[in-house]
Amino acid sequence: MRTLVFGGSFDPPHRGHAKLLAAAAEKIRPDRILIVPAYRAPLKNRAPAATAEERLALVRVGLAQRLASRWRRKTQVEDGEVRARRCVFTVETLARLKGQDPAGELHFVCGADAAATFPRWKDPARLRALASWWYGARPGAAGAAPAFFRRVPGRFPDISSTELRAALELGQDEGPAQLFAETLAEIKRRGLYGQARLARLSATLKPGRFAHTLNVAALADALARRHGVDAARARLAGLLHDAGRRFSSPELAAYVRRRRLRVPFGAQTAARTPMLLHAYVSEDLARREFGVRDAAVLRAVRRHTLGGPRMSVLDKVLYVADACSADRRHPGVERTRALAFDDLDAAFARCVVEKLSHALARRAWIHPATVALWNSLAAR
Ligand SMILES: [Fe+2]
Ligand SMILES: [Fe+2]
Repeated sequence: MRTLVFGGSFDPPHRGHAKLLAAAAEKIRPDRILIVPAYRAPLKNRAPAATAEERLALVRVGLAQRLASRWRRKTQVEDGEVRARRCVFTVETLARLKGQDPAGELHFVCGADAAATFPRWKDPARLRALASWWYGARPGAAGAAPAFFRRVPGRFPDISSTELRAALELGQDEGPAQLFAETLAEIKRRGLYGQARLARLSATLKPGRFAHTLNVAALADALARRHGVDAARARLAGLLHDAGRRFSSPELAAYVRRRRLRVPFGAQTAARTPMLLHAYVSEDLARREFGVRDAAVLRAVRRHTLGGPRMSVLDKVLYVADACSADRRHPGVERTRALAFDDLDAAFARCVVEKLSHALARRAWIHPATVALWNSLAAR
């Protein structure tokens, strides 16, 4: 029997996987197809974003079902690695399959990126003896497949699962376009890849505030990549920075009292401009309601309105992203946004000046932390 083995993390499965598998089936013409989701891929240093059971469910609805019927009938989702509940090496899986059908042929298919890492897989010599090796070329793939890999005819779309997950977290449309509708529906139903967080934010914030939140998270993501800080942290901070804006001013003041949140000049702030309390409330919600434990993310959320001493790059990224997100309309905002990509510190200083000028123009009370922030910048 000729068996096509298609392994991967499938975190999540997307149209690129389906296209590669269909092309490989046409070329190899197998008697059966086994899709083998990994419990955890040995060479990836991060655990998958979705659990093995969740990815298995996604593969069932959004990959196996999408093959042409002549191949679908021959396809099984092989859950051996998932049931092992540990990182299983491909050599173990192929040896097990070979044991089930010693006279059969195994054909292993993977993407170009995985193929390029083959020399680091466990027991490469034995792997080569167990199966024939195939890869799908992807423009922009990192590294080349070893010479004994055969190429599956066709070009396969340049879809990175990491970027797809980032787009899903940010509620962007490009991500879902790379997913089959039933995969996206299952992701939403299960609240995976940040969908539960988006649903919660959209249910608690007014539409304009929710749109602003998505803009801030997208800009924070882009600025973080530009300035070499963790984009996932920046997205999370951006998504949660205004979670506290679900409350009115009196509710914010009551929340801060009830939870005994430490706010600099808290009593004055509550009396003069209670809306400024929302950053501290957002931090508390991020921790308690959204389960964030990352101190750097919580700190950036807490500091996004009033700033603080020794602002980290992530703190500044969020502060600036909030002040010049795509929905902001004040004069000069495009210039500040462009500047933020070249010189984050200069953009940050400009945002503080704009905040102060705006308050002075309205003859508003200026929070002492904002004055201190400005003085620390002016002293440089
Ligand atoms: Fe805010
Ligand atoms: Fe904001």
